[in-house]
Amino acid sequence: MDRIRIHGGVPLKGIIPIGGAKNAALALMPACLLTEDTLTLANLPHLADIATMANLLTQHGVALTLNGESGNGDACGRTLDLSAANITSTTAPYDLVRKMRASVLVLGPLLARFGQARVSLPGGCAIGTRPVDLHLKALEQMGARIVLDGGYIVAEAGGRLKGAHIIFPQVTVGGTENLLMAATLGDGETVIANAAREPEVADLAYCLVAMGAKIEGIGTGTLRIQGVERLHAARYSVVPDRIETGTYAVAAAITRGDVELVGARFDLMESVTKVLTDCGAEIQETPRGLRVKADAAEITGTDIMTEPYPGFPTDMQAQLMALLATAKGASMITETIFENRFMHVPELMRMGARINVHGASAIVRGVPRLSGAQVMATDLRASVSLILAGLAAEGETVVNRVYHLDRGYERVEEKLAACGARIERIKGEAAE
Ligand code: EPZ
Repeated sequence: MDRIRIHGGVPLKGIIPIGGAKNAALALMPACLLTEDTLTLANLPHLADIATMANLLTQHGVALTLNGESGNGDACGRTLDLSAANITSTTAPYDLVRKMRASVLVLGPLLARFGQARVSLPGGCAIGTRPVDLHLKALEQMGARIVLDGGYIVAEAGGRLKGAHIIFPQVTVGGTENLLMAATLGDGETVIANAAREPEVADLAYCLVAMGAKIEGIGTGTLRIQGVERLHAARYSVVPDRIETGTYAVAAAITRGDVELVGARFDLMESVTKVLTDCGAEIQETPRGLRVKADAAEITGTDIMTEPYPGFPTDMQAQLMALLATAKGASMITETIFENRFMHVPELMRMGARINVHGASAIVRGVPRLSGAQVMATDLRASVSLILAGLAAEGETVVNRVYHLDRGYERVEEKLAACGARIERIKGEAAE
C-alpha cells in the first residue's frame, strides 16, 4: 500500500486547483438510472470512490463512456456519459456496497424507475454505525414495500411510487438525495421537510431539473417535487468541492502560507471561512476562487461545533483540529453529526498535539510545534488531517494507508508540492 512522506515546515505559496465535489458526484452518477437517455456529467473528479460508483453502475448494466478532460476554466475534471438504457440487474451486491456506503444511493432511482431494487445493507463504518433507516421509512411512505432479507434491502413499489409528505426527524444528506431522486418519477407531489440543504443536495436537484424534474425549494429545508412520467438526457457540471477547498485553506493556514484556491466557490464556504478568519487567517474572494493568507498571522484557538449545512461541516472537523493543535490557546471542538469521528486524535497526539476528548467534545490545547511521526487513519478526512499536521510538523511524517486519501483527494501530493511542500508518495512498500 502507498504511503506519503512529508518533511514539514515549509509555508505553502502558490495556486491549487479545486476539483468537482466527490459527494455531489456520488449522488449525480446514480441519477442516470432515472432515465433511458444519456446523462453527461462534466467536472467529475478522478477518485477511487468515483471508480467504485462507476463499477456499481456498470454492474447494473449502465454503459459508461469517458470523454477525457473537459479542461476549460473552472470545469477541469473529466466528462462521463452514463446511459441506463439497458439495465440488466436491479441488485447492488454486498461486495460493492461494502466498499462504499454511498452505493445505497442507487436504491431510490432503481425503485422509482423499475419498481424494484435489492441493495445490500451498508454496514457500520469507521466514523459510526450510520444506519439507513430514514431512507427506508421515507420510501415506505411513498408506498414501497421493504423487507430486510439476508443482509439485503429488498424493495418493491408495484408500479409508480406515490407522492407523500415526508418529514425527516433529523437532517440526512443521503436520505434527502435518495428520496429526491425517487420523488422525481413519483405519482403526484412529494414534500420533503427538514431536507438537507448541503450544496451537494442542491447540485443533485439542479441536475434533476435539467433532466426534466419539477422541483421547488432547492437549497432550502423544504423540497417540493411534482412527479413526472419520465426524465430525459442532460449535461451537467459537478459543483466544486467545498471540502477539498476547505482542506487546502487549512493547509495554507497551518503552514502560515499564502495560497489561491482556483475554481473554488467562495459562496459555499461561509462557515469554514468564518472559523479560519476567527483564527487569524485572511481570506479574500478572488475572480478565480479564493485566497488564504496566513504568512503574517498568529493563529489563535477558537471553538467549533459541527452542524448540517450551512453550519460547520463534519467533513472539515479533523482538518480544523490539526490547525487548532498548532494555534495559540485552547479550543473546543464538538462533533454533533457522527458519534465516532475522533479517530484522528490519538494519531495527532503521536505528533505532539495536546487533545482531551470528553464524549462528543475535544479540548485542543495548541502547542508551538508538532513533530513528525509515523501515523495512519481509518477514514478519509482523518487521513488528510494527518497530512496537514505533517506539513506543519518539524521533521519527517509518514502517513500510512493512503488508500483512504485516494478515495477523496485527487493528486493531493502533486497539488501540495506545486506550492512548495516537501511531500512524496512512496509506492507500494509494505505499509503496516
Ligand atoms: C454524507 O453522508 C456524506 N457522504 C458524508 O461525507 C458527510 O460526512 C455526511 O453526509 C454529513 O454531512 C456522501 O455524501 C457520500 P447523513 P451520509 O445521512 O449521507 C444519521 C466524507 O468524508 N442517519 O447526513 O451518509 C447518520 O448515522 C463523508 O466525504 C441515521 O441515523 O450522512 C449520521 O449520524 C463521510 N439514519 C447523521 O444521520 C439514516 O437513515 C447524518 O448522516 C441516515 C442517517
